[in-house]
Amino acid sequence: MSMVVGKRRWWGGVDLGVVMMIIILCNNYVKQSLELRSSHPLHGVVDRVNEKGGPYIGLVMAYPTEEIALEASALFVPNSHVPWLDLSGRRFNIGTIRGVNVIYVMTGEQTLNAGITVQILLDVFDIYGIVHYGTAGTANDSLSIGDVSVLNSVAFTGSWKWKEFQSEKGEFSELKFGTYNLPTMGGNLLAKIEFTGEQLYSIGQPMEKVFWLPIEPKWFSLASQLQDLKLQQCMNETYCLPETPKVVYGLKGSTADIFVDNTAFRTFLFKEFNVSTVDEESSAVVMTCLTNGVPCIVFRGVSDLAGEGEKLMTSAGSASCLAATNALSVAVEFIGLIGTAIPTHDH
Ligand SMILES: *[C@@H]1O[C@H](CO)[C@@H](O)[C@H](O)[C@H]1NC(C)=O
Ligand SMILES: *[C@@H]1O[C@H](CO)[C@@H](O)[C@H](O)[C@H]1NC(C)=O
Ligand SMILES: *[C@@H]1O[C@H](CO)[C@@H](O)[C@H](O)[C@H]1NC(C)=O
Repeated sequence: MSMVVGKRRWWGGVDLGVVMMIIILCNNYVKQSLELRSSHPLHGVVDRVNEKGGPYIGLVMAYPTEEIALEASALFVPNSHVPWLDLSGRRFNIGTIRGVNVIYVMTGEQTLNAGITVQILLDVFDIYGIVHYGTAGTANDSLSIGDVSVLNSVAFTGSWKWKEFQSEKGEFSELKFGTYNLPTMGGNLLAKIEFTGEQLYSIGQPMEKVFWLPIEPKWFSLASQLQDLKLQQCMNETYCLPETPKVVYGLKGSTADIFVDNTAFRTFLFKEFNVSTVDEESSAVVMTCLTNGVPCIVFRGVSDLAGEGEKLMTSAGSASCLAATNALSVAVEFIGLIGTAIPTHDH
């Protein structure tokens, strides 16, 4: 693999001591050769991509509507020699946005797809950090369609202990199904679930149980400059939203392999965890970044109300387009900001 990647990670391990550093280097070496062994047909191409253009910003989205927003913007300029590489069924697109070297990839939906893809991106390419954008449902009544949330932390809310009927109150947040019985609340045999955290493994650290995954503080703070960004208000030539969408900074998000379209659960998530957006990938992207010690930021545009209120006057498709376009706008501005901070290598 390229010297560039090895060198950067070498310096990343400095304060862990020499022994640790050697271990990291060795592991790194082994991991990379497993990922793209020297006999892999793309081995040489990947080396050239890293040496000529690295380090890159990894731009990650989950599904076609979000990728189409990027294509439609024409902001991504593909590399004229190697515009893309296919690995494990994903297309890694190599180029620039606003003059910053970027590799973008669509992960596929839900946490496993997101985690796998970000890990490949980090293993194979010389990546400075990950920018993730996409659509989301909102659980916060103060957010409207088209608003973009700059997350400050995200939790995986799809992991729980399913408890016995009449069991003791647990240590963590619980959802009691009987509370939602009709016509009056009571009990039922599905009893309750207690939310549990995730296991975070990361370089040089023992495994840690976590619930909230933080966004990297320097990147998060840089993104505060994006709050006055002008976002798109119109779905098409004839239909515009009643209010101008806004960038909302520093809210919490939740992720699960669950599409939330239910008012009671939406309200529960907001009240119990203060989450403003719900999606199916963000926590996996952030966890993969934390595992690898790489900075990461998440921008999610509101495409639906997660089950609340009147059905929109607009088609779901056009709301998703607008949400994806607005989230992309914020991501692109951020790439412009971070671009000036990326160290360049002597090639
Ligand atoms: C949610 O936010 C409110 C204030 O906005 C705070 O009082 C409460 O402790 C928070 N709850 C959780 C679970 O973070
Ligand atoms: C809900 O969103 C608004 C922004 O529109 C924000 O000020 C508020 O703090 C959010 N609520 C919580 C609990 O995060
Ligand atoms: C514009 O969007 C609105 C709301 O989604 C829809 O009802 C209308 O048919 C669209 N008009 C055109 C010209 O696409």
